[in-house]
Amino acid sequence: MGVGKSAVARCLAERLGWPLVDLDARIEAEAGHSIPTIFEREGETGFRRREADAVRAVLSGPRTVVALGGGTVTQTVLRRELLARGVLISLEAPLETLLERVGGGAGRPLLAGDPAARLASLLAERAGAYAECHARVSSVGDPAAIAERVATVAAEARVPVPLGVDSYVVEIGEGYRHRLADRMTPFGRPILVADPNTERYRDPLAPPDAVNVTLDEGEEHKTVDAVARIWDRALEAGVDRRAIVVAIGGGVVGDLSGFAAASLLRGVAFGQVPTTLLAMVDSSVGGKTGFNRAAGKNLVGAFHQPAFVLCDPEVLVTLPKADRIAGLAEVVKSAWLEGEGAVAALERDAEALARGETAATIGAIQRSVATKARIVAEDALEKGVRMHLNLGHTVGHGLEAAAGYGGLRHGEAVSLGLVAAMRVGVARGSAHATEVERMERLLDRLGLPIDLDRRLDDAVWPFVQNDKKRQGDAVRFVVPGSPGVIAVEPMTVDAVRAAVVRS
Ligand SMILES: NC(=O)c1ccc[n+]([C@@H]2O[C@H](COP(=O)([O-])OP(=O)(O)OC[C@H]3O[C@@H](n4cnc5c(N)ncnc54)[C@H](O)[C@@H]3O)[C@@H](O)[C@H]2O)c1
Repeated sequence: MGVGKSAVARCLAERLGWPLVDLDARIEAEAGHSIPTIFEREGETGFRRREADAVRAVLSGPRTVVALGGGTVTQTVLRRELLARGVLISLEAPLETLLERVGGGAGRPLLAGDPAARLASLLAERAGAYAECHARVSSVGDPAAIAERVATVAAEARVPVPLGVDSYVVEIGEGYRHRLADRMTPFGRPILVADPNTERYRDPLAPPDAVNVTLDEGEEHKTVDAVARIWDRALEAGVDRRAIVVAIGGGVVGDLSGFAAASLLRGVAFGQVPTTLLAMVDSSVGGKTGFNRAAGKNLVGAFHQPAFVLCDPEVLVTLPKADRIAGLAEVVKSAWLEGEGAVAALERDAEALARGETAATIGAIQRSVATKARIVAEDALEKGVRMHLNLGHTVGHGLEAAAGYGGLRHGEAVSLGLVAAMRVGVARGSAHATEVERMERLLDRLGLPIDLDRRLDDAVWPFVQNDKKRQGDAVRFVVPGSPGVIAVEPMTVDAVRAAVVRS
């Protein structure tokens, strides 16, 4: 309220040449009453119902600038629809500015009584809802200049991960790693973690007071000792709880840094500048952090969400081609989880992606992250639907573990695991043989391995049996059907094996 939505929306519509809808005005026109009258007659519930109908009507129409009501986004289902189908911008101003603008609060039923106290408590109540947006833009100043800022961010590839006050935005674009200094401004001393292959990106970005930590490279160094190196360097430097740990590297650096951030001084902020395709499309999003133990990969960890993720495809030029291609396996997985449209888009772009073309790569990152964000938002702690993200990973992990660290890249194992999962889908009657072929053709065009029969041997199955997502004797297997149709079924390893192995 009073943040200037109507004025900024007017300027923005003019600037973009799009139609403008002022949601409150539209609701009043349709009801034939003022908002205070609607509240009086139908209560807040009645008003919110009218509001939801009006939002859905504009969402199914042509491109439009919409000035929402201040409370529109408090309806979670509606907010998520706005995030998925539109670009949602939160305009922000200090409380005093808002108070000045709303004056005595006349005509605003939610401010009845003491407007200052009501406004402050509404802001506190709604903080989690306002945090879930594509961008937060300060609305202090000239509406035309604010509209210009909104137009700029609205044109960017940004994917919100909507988790209430823990929300963040994954920003994807060339050169975006240089935004690091700006994104770190709300925090204290930075602890910048890299490995020998990614130091070259970290060092030019490091401010003079940064604590730089370079870890040993590779999965075999994803250990508690590596985490302890981050803890110790940070503590020796005397950081306090305002510190932020930033990972500038692949999934190994990201998982280790995230766990260090989750535990250092009982938890400090965390940021991600992923430098492998796998880290951009998968490991930097969702807040899973941790390290390996002798008993298996990722067996100790914590959930700790980053405050920002900056994906800069420019850094992928130094990534060995095989590592880049391996990251595409998670892109295929996400597309299959999402549905027909996403798989078709991937089929359209397959050769461009295999060559590493920037526009196709940005599109694939954006779509994959959007799928992961949607699933993580539904189930941040992996108690239900987040299990779907393990599609291809059960047999994949078995193959990866049996090959030993360094034998098979994670993404290559996932590619083979996706082939295995499709075979399970066929055995369970949820997928058709043509879908196995479609999956294999797509993986193959992207340059990923599909020669599952050659790679499977007896050594794989004990590792599948030890999968950490098992429940008693059964593993919870993510069974694919056609794109977008996914089920989780408890299966014995023998049943998985019978479905996957071709005699
Ligand atoms: N947290 C999660 O949700 C999640 C999800 C998927 C995977 N993971 C984890 O991610 C890890 C795999 O990630 P990864 O494939 O990024 O591994 P990685 O971090 O080991 O990176 C792969 C290799 O590329 C090098 N490298 C990274 N960026 C580079 C660049 N821009 N130029 C040149 N070389 C570069 C690294 O030094 C390394 O040698 C696994 O440990 C896996 O468990 C975590």
